[in-house]
Amino acid sequence: MRRKLAAGNWKMNGLAAAVTEAAAIAAYDANGVDVLICPPATLLAQMATLPMSIGGQDCHARTSGAHTGDISAEQLADTGATYTLTGHSERRTDHGETDAMINAKTMAAFAANLTAVVCIGETLSERETNKTLTVIDTQLAGSVPDTASAANTVIAYEPVWAIGTGKVPTNDQIAQVHAHIRARLSKRFSDGADFRILYGGSVKASNATEIFGIVDVDGALVGGASLTAADFTPIIAALAAS
Ligand code: 13P
Repeated sequence: MRRKLAAGNWKMNGLAAAVTEAAAIAAYDANGVDVLICPPATLLAQMATLPMSIGGQDCHARTSGAHTGDISAEQLADTGATYTLTGHSERRTDHGETDAMINAKTMAAFAANLTAVVCIGETLSERETNKTLTVIDTQLAGSVPDTASAANTVIAYEPVWAIGTGKVPTNDQIAQVHAHIRARLSKRFSDGADFRILYGGSVKASNATEIFGIVDVDGALVGGASLTAADFTPIIAALAAS
């Protein structure tokens, strides 16, 4: 039985005052759904005291050393984080992260006992040229370490063209990719059927129920609509009801 996961990625948003929003989200009765917020690293320690999971948005592949501005998985865990995102498309684009780098970061997350939410997804031009499933295969094979298991890894399918755009794939498109990811995981890992697969990209209260009704969608990775309790709690409720 896969536990449903409502995950929020705050990206580079949120000052100290935003902890009140996180507190309101944490206070909401999630009805058995796991709730995770990945705030900016500056807020992790303050949010670690709240009754929900918190996670980093990225981690370095090494434990410590001369890497100015980076943060290690061990340091994330030290704040109280139990998760970290790896391979978000904004990291792939803004910081040139490759599948090999993401694989190393994900291994570092495992070593620090963090659950990695490994993000994958195609660009618009890749979708338009029928390369979606090939891209998914390459990213899954390259970014997800052989030591991954349902206990230490969550997969987030985030089509790049759906992030922050208000555009959402059709139900059939989401179903096709999630089924494909499930099949690949099941082939490669003995517990592949137990990995949670999240959908991400313009999830809102208004489309959450429909998306959560799709087979093999075990939750969502939400950007903009996770920043306030008013926007995020109806999404948590929709997941609980699904
Ligand atoms: P939006 O929900 O703002 O489209 O962002 C999705 C995302 O990138 C979450 O990681």
